[in-house]
Amino acid sequence: MYTRYINLLVICLLNIIVINSNIPKSMQLNGHLRIVVFLQFIIWIFQNFLSHVNVSVLERLSHLDADPHECSLWLLLKKTQSTIWTERLQAVQDLAQNHYWQDYQYRTAAQAIDHRTAIGLARTPQVDLRFFLPPPALPEGGLWCFGGNGLPYAQSLTTIPSEKVESFCLQALVQHSKVLSHCDHIVANGGLHLLQRVYQLRRDSQKIQRNIVRIIGNLALNESLHTAIVQSGWVSVLAEMVQSPHIMQASHAARALANLDRDAEVQKYQDGVYILNPHCRTNQPIKADVLFVHGLLGAAFKTWRQKDCELTEDEESAGVQEDYTECWPKSWLASDCPNLRILSVEYDTHLSDWRAKCPAENQRKSLAYRSGELLKKLKAAGVGDRPVIWVAHSMGGLLVKKMLLDATKDPELSPLVKNTKGVLFYSVPHYGTFMAEYSVNVRYLLFPSIEVKELCRDSPALRDLNENFISIAKDQEFKVLSFAETQPTSIGPMIKILVVPGQSAGRSS
Ligand SMILES: *[C@@H]1O[C@H](CO)[C@@H](O)[C@H](O)[C@H]1NC(C)=O
Ligand SMILES: *[C@@H]1O[C@H](CO)[C@@H](O)[C@H](O)[C@H]1NC(C)=O
Repeated sequence: MYTRYINLLVICLLNIIVINSNIPKSMQLNGHLRIVVFLQFIIWIFQNFLSHVNVSVLERLSHLDADPHECSLWLLLKKTQSTIWTERLQAVQDLAQNHYWQDYQYRTAAQAIDHRTAIGLARTPQVDLRFFLPPPALPEGGLWCFGGNGLPYAQSLTTIPSEKVESFCLQALVQHSKVLSHCDHIVANGGLHLLQRVYQLRRDSQKIQRNIVRIIGNLALNESLHTAIVQSGWVSVLAEMVQSPHIMQASHAARALANLDRDAEVQKYQDGVYILNPHCRTNQPIKADVLFVHGLLGAAFKTWRQKDCELTEDEESAGVQEDYTECWPKSWLASDCPNLRILSVEYDTHLSDWRAKCPAENQRKSLAYRSGELLKKLKAAGVGDRPVIWVAHSMGGLLVKKMLLDATKDPELSPLVKNTKGVLFYSVPHYGTFMAEYSVNVRYLLFPSIEVKELCRDSPALRDLNENFISIAKDQEFKVLSFAETQPTSIGPMIKILVVPGQSAGRSS
């Protein structure tokens, strides 16, 4: 059978290739016949080839034909593993932009993507949450197995609601997680699963959830722990939380994800450094950093709300809050100027000592200690690598002045000074306030804490700080704007005072 074809093939080839042939005339085919034979040969080859190909392969090929999305899914998944960095990042972006896939395709992708890609997807705006595997089932056992079973026993003796107990335990864990060398112990003792369990149990408490994610963000500072964090299902939790309409939830999640995302970030956000913008990977070039530093009794988010707003949960969900923002630097500044990285830093402040929980923390309260601590954190976050604008409220302004003065003395921090373009003081007590005097008389201010002492009116330390700052501000040509409050601050239910009288805040400008 084959010989017939081979014979034809030979004749055909001879006829086609050899133009001025010297084969016998009887063997030559005329032009028309030549082409027919050639075509037949081609068809035969094709049939022969197909019969050898497995039917399953054919089926798969036709399947790919029918569903181009599937094909592009696998191509994209392959690209996310590329050794070329830009290709990898682009593939993650393209993957996230597919909104027309079937449910099973997302599930397939969730199974197939690696850790790096999952983190990248979680940091893509409005990504479909089906890309993330849900946290694995948790092992059986008591809630507070971490650190022995003393706690369930203690709990059985009291009537304190378990949510409160958990909240206190979490605060203790938050303190531990601030110490880098404690983090691997937390993970080694099953802390990640424990936190996951509490997180799932307390879906109604935003505060507990924030504390948990704050711990995860701290653990993520040690890159050796990333695999354990991802494997215990935190990426899906963070991906959901970063899309929260509540800025505090979203910012905590954004920090944890940024610390995990070593493919797109070099900076690390330590405890107390919050990212208000951008919350995700971005193609926008970042042109400057704006740093918000809160004051006495303030906090990274609370200080920057539009005003006090006491809506009930029902009103909140009904959208009464439409015009209200819980954090204007995020809601207004970031939407007006998307090319800014906006950070908010947080440190504990207490008006009187009886609110301080840990006696060992007392030394942490001096301005000098805080300045050194924050400068280290800001350096890790890459502040100083591009133009910086500081916005400081109340005592935060004293801290900013102290930090800038300390930075001029440290050659490693000279980029921070060089790149500081402007400082905005917002009710800063440049010469002290009446607060310290009030504190003697007022029930709420039983014991003036160290920072209130530092705020004494006309304190020589504050005068020096201010004079030195003015001299470097002139040297380095910082643009400084200072303004004061005219409305009294409500400190407790019974007291309203003007924390910073106009003349104290105004005199430095
Ligand atoms: C065709 O598939 C079968 C199993 O499905 C396999 O054993 C066989 O080796 C395949 N043949 C070819 C030519 O790939
Ligand atoms: C980070 O974690 C690894 C692994 O658990 C541990 O060996 C290492 O000491 C940790 N690094 C620091 C600085 O604590």
